[in-house]
Amino acid sequence: MECLILGGSEFISLHVVRELLRRGHRVTVLNRGSRNQRLPAGVEVLLADRKEHAALRAGLAGLAFDDVFDIAYAPTTAEDVRAALEALDGRVGHYLFCSSTRVYDHTAPLPFTETTPRSLYWGEYARHKLEAEDVLLERHRAGGLPVTLVRPTHVLGPYNTRDNETFFFDRILRGRPVLVPGDGGWLRQFGHAEDLAHAFAEMAGNPRASGQAYNITGEECVTQAGFVELIAHVMGKPVELVHFDPKLLEGFEKPGRVFGQNLVYPAHIFYSTAKARLELGLHPRYTLEAGLRQTYEWYLAEGLDRRPVEFAFEDQLLARLGRGR
Ligand SMILES: NC(=O)c1ccc[n+]([C@@H]2O[C@H](COP(=O)([O-])OP(=O)(O)OC[C@H]3O[C@@H](n4cnc5c(N)ncnc54)[C@H](OP(=O)(O)O)[C@@H]3O)[C@@H](O)[C@H]2O)c1
Repeated sequence: MECLILGGSEFISLHVVRELLRRGHRVTVLNRGSRNQRLPAGVEVLLADRKEHAALRAGLAGLAFDDVFDIAYAPTTAEDVRAALEALDGRVGHYLFCSSTRVYDHTAPLPFTETTPRSLYWGEYARHKLEAEDVLLERHRAGGLPVTLVRPTHVLGPYNTRDNETFFFDRILRGRPVLVPGDGGWLRQFGHAEDLAHAFAEMAGNPRASGQAYNITGEECVTQAGFVELIAHVMGKPVELVHFDPKLLEGFEKPGRVFGQNLVYPAHIFYSTAKARLELGLHPRYTLEAGLRQTYEWYLAEGLDRRPVEFAFEDQLLARLGRGR
């Protein structure tokens, strides 16, 4: 298959590139060229900013693709997705869009399924994803374009651009305590980037996936504290959890990161993966533990254990808790 990936050089989209190449597909990426040295050999590169629609049109003029994987978040609006569709002007067999489980109304009962109402609970990000989904669903209904909406939740794995699992590797490795907001009991769910890439590749060209949305993530749920404890277990190191009242953060003008990049929020998440399992036969191949183990090996192999890390804000917070270091 002839595949176009919007993005391609970072995290999720890089895993998709690798998966498609592994399956013998021809791969073209479109991005601004910041990290293309990471791309495997044999990938065609188109340089363009997807937010600059004239450049996008020029870059894609005359090209045709069986599958387009719209993954780069730029932040990508409905207008940007419309522009990509217009730039391809009918020369696309299947359009797969990387949305997010953050489109769901997170006040609805758990688990969130593909029929959970969508809302702006997650603000601007949700609005962009939701409106982009609507543009694609409209093209599907009105023009018959095969589209698939892929909704991942927290994604982990090598090349992660979110400082989540790596945040805890950094602290546990150095014997530092981990600050935990409240009792650390909010439920979290993670999927592995390779499982997500596998799902994208399996859906491409599959008529069953056309006009559909799917939650794609791991099948386990874990509390915030349980996530840190599992990471320590995988690393074979002890960890000390220091709980604090998240209200304490309000006393700081510019609070720093205290618990990963985006894992603090006060809500449970748990997304059903039954639809992808039953309709497409998709199952994650990584358990949470196996995914963390593989990511920790990557982190060590990349020498990230020697990267400089800023602890000043955590030290201030620890001092307020009477835990000066
Ligand atoms: N990470 C998660 O946990 C998570 C969870 C749910 C959903 N998602 C969704 O997953 C998708 C991928 O996220 P990600 O964090 O892996 O990567 P990302 O930051 O969205 O994308 C990075 C890739 O996109 C390219 N890119 C960025 N801005 C661009 C622009 N203006 N024009 C063209 N290319 C551009 C980058 O290359 P250049 O910089 O060289 O242009 C790079 O190849 C996003 O849609 C995100 O909303 C992520």
